[in-house]
Amino acid sequence: MSVQTGDERHHQCPTTNQLRERVADMFGMEDAVFLPSGSMCNQIAIAVHTKPGDEIICARESHIIFAECGGLAKLSGTMVSVIDTERGLFSADAVTSLRRPLSSFAPRSRLVVTEQTSNLGGGAIWPLDQIQSVAHTAQELGLSVHMDGARVLNASVATGAAVSDYAAGHDSAWIAFTKGLGCPVGAVLAGSRDFIREAWHFKRMFGGAMRQTGVLTAMCLYALDHHVERLAEDHSRAKRIEAALQGCRLFSRVLPVETNIVLAEVSPECGLDAMELKVLLASHNVKVMAVGNHRIRMITHLDVDDVSVSRLIESFEVAEASLGRR
Ligand SMILES: Cc1ncc(COP(=O)(O)O)c(C=O)c1O
Repeated sequence: MSVQTGDERHHQCPTTNQLRERVADMFGMEDAVFLPSGSMCNQIAIAVHTKPGDEIICARESHIIFAECGGLAKLSGTMVSVIDTERGLFSADAVTSLRRPLSSFAPRSRLVVTEQTSNLGGGAIWPLDQIQSVAHTAQELGLSVHMDGARVLNASVATGAAVSDYAAGHDSAWIAFTKGLGCPVGAVLAGSRDFIREAWHFKRMFGGAMRQTGVLTAMCLYALDHHVERLAEDHSRAKRIEAALQGCRLFSRVLPVETNIVLAEVSPECGLDAMELKVLLASHNVKVMAVGNHRIRMITHLDVDDVSVSRLIESFEVAEASLGRR
């Protein structure tokens, strides 16, 4: 297959332009920009929406808080007001109560960030009415709204709701191509024409401007055509893992699986913290991520098939048995 390429910095890459248009349409927004990573989408969106000293309202579990190296403070000079949530989702009332009244003392509340689905919330899906009411309330309060939509397609496939409906009322949103969609690189950030014009300024500043991106964006277009519906398979495999872990003594609780993320709380009775359990599982050929001291996370994706899930479950059984012998 030959791929048409050109210099994306001058909007001369037809394949990249096709992807931009497709993602903008998917979100119901005017324009979009291709970027190397999701973190860069978030950081550019924050840079465009805020001024130094401004405050961002988001869930404590947000990726922009726990996994982007404090970039919002370093790159944009912003601060955050976090909402404590059960699984990364919050209400319009929480936004209203955190929005600071205009004063010459207080920082200016400027931006609300939603994350669909919530990574640290174990793949929890924002219900449509909840995310729309948060976005519309934020708009009424004069705040901009950005969606970290790394896994918004997982939400859409799980519920049947359109991505554009989840994004309604948002000023910017992006999707990742490297997660369930299986590409080696890439994310696309969408917004109004003015927003994307500004986003290009920060894309260059942050070192994200590229050249013949067609070789990358062709893969993203392929993924949109071939890897979206199959996200449902990831969801059912995650459910299978959830069911298997329910009775496992290694865990005291498994968060209800809604999409492709399984978050399990390590049982105090097993006498290990999350990192120690991660090491034990690695010795049984299972790679998991420790999240904090007491939780481990597993994600199903394109490269995890039914046989891998069976092996994973068997390894948990062996690890559980080995614990009994310790
Ligand atoms: C919710 C969420 N946002 C942002 C990111 C960052 O994406 P990237 O790894 O492409 O920078 C991730 C990555 O796991 C994520 O889960």
